[in-house]
Amino acid sequence: MKNELEKIHSEAMEAADSCDSIKALDELRVKYLGKKGGLTAILKQMGKLSAEERPVIGQLANKIRADIEEAVSKKMTLLKAKEQEIKLAKETIDITLPGKPQSLGKLHPLTIVSNEIKEIFMGMGFDIADGPEVEYDYYNFEALNLPPDHPARDTQDTFYITDNILLRTQTSSVQVHVMENKKPPIRIISPGRVYRSDAVDATHSPLFHQVEGLVVDKGITMADLKGTLEMLMKKLYGDDCKIRLRPHHFPFTEPSAEVDVMCFNCHGEGCRICKGEGYIELLGAGMVHPKVLEGCGIDSSVYSGFAFGMGLERIVMRRYNISDMRLLFENDLRFLEQF
Ligand code: PHE
Repeated sequence: MKNELEKIHSEAMEAADSCDSIKALDELRVKYLGKKGGLTAILKQMGKLSAEERPVIGQLANKIRADIEEAVSKKMTLLKAKEQEIKLAKETIDITLPGKPQSLGKLHPLTIVSNEIKEIFMGMGFDIADGPEVEYDYYNFEALNLPPDHPARDTQDTFYITDNILLRTQTSSVQVHVMENKKPPIRIISPGRVYRSDAVDATHSPLFHQVEGLVVDKGITMADLKGTLEMLMKKLYGDDCKIRLRPHHFPFTEPSAEVDVMCFNCHGEGCRICKGEGYIELLGAGMVHPKVLEGCGIDSSVYSGFAFGMGLERIVMRRYNISDMRLLFENDLRFLEQF
């Protein structure tokens, strides 16, 4: 048995030494050391040995096993290193190949113009305020002097979550949040999404964007409102841009006005785009109603303010001469890549 062991020993060591592939080495390990391998086969016959022989042979077998294991593992390290070397030599990178083009994302036109408007107002000392899109009836209507059953609610039908909670129809709700939380002087704009249950067409969408503005301080007049809006429009549409205020009605401002902007196309002459008017209606505005101020805990005999709200889509469409609002929401890359 001793001879057999020694034979396996020298055979295995030689085979390991001359072995030149990882796969062959693995097979070799199984052949000599595995459960069905040569060494195990011999050890299974240990029972036949005498009590004196058994420990001697046992010791020898263990030593041989350890020897072979070490030889295999050393060879394995060597072969793996060699394989790596070959792989590295083969896989050189051709740095002269042209790279894969990366397509860079762009800002959405609504974001571009919204950012621009924020910049303009921040330049005039305004803060940016934010408010919830899921809103209490109170903030969207009641605190804005639109009690339940007020007829003006009909023009702003929306999506109701409960009788009392709805998707806001106007960013004017943010006026109330700001006035509840901050003492005058107040100077904010608040851009954001608003909702109305309108059917989709070229000029309507159940989701659109508004930018609200609110200024409250001592001695604020309509002249401040007009000056601020004129400044905004000049920056947006060019220095020769003029605006026009027409009397209107909003429950939360008094007096109220609709604000028209000189047609960007004909500069006031009258053309196809402005339907011969020379001006295009762009936003609603007015002096904050004393009732709204008082409701928010602001003394209307000391403070006055103005507010305005404009549809962002409309401004973007004028800006880029886009004729269909749906283009802004369809996310067609062929459209969006033009900005
Ligand atoms: N919230 C009004 C609307 O959506 C616009 C507006 C805002 C009017 C602020 C006056 C003052 O039509």
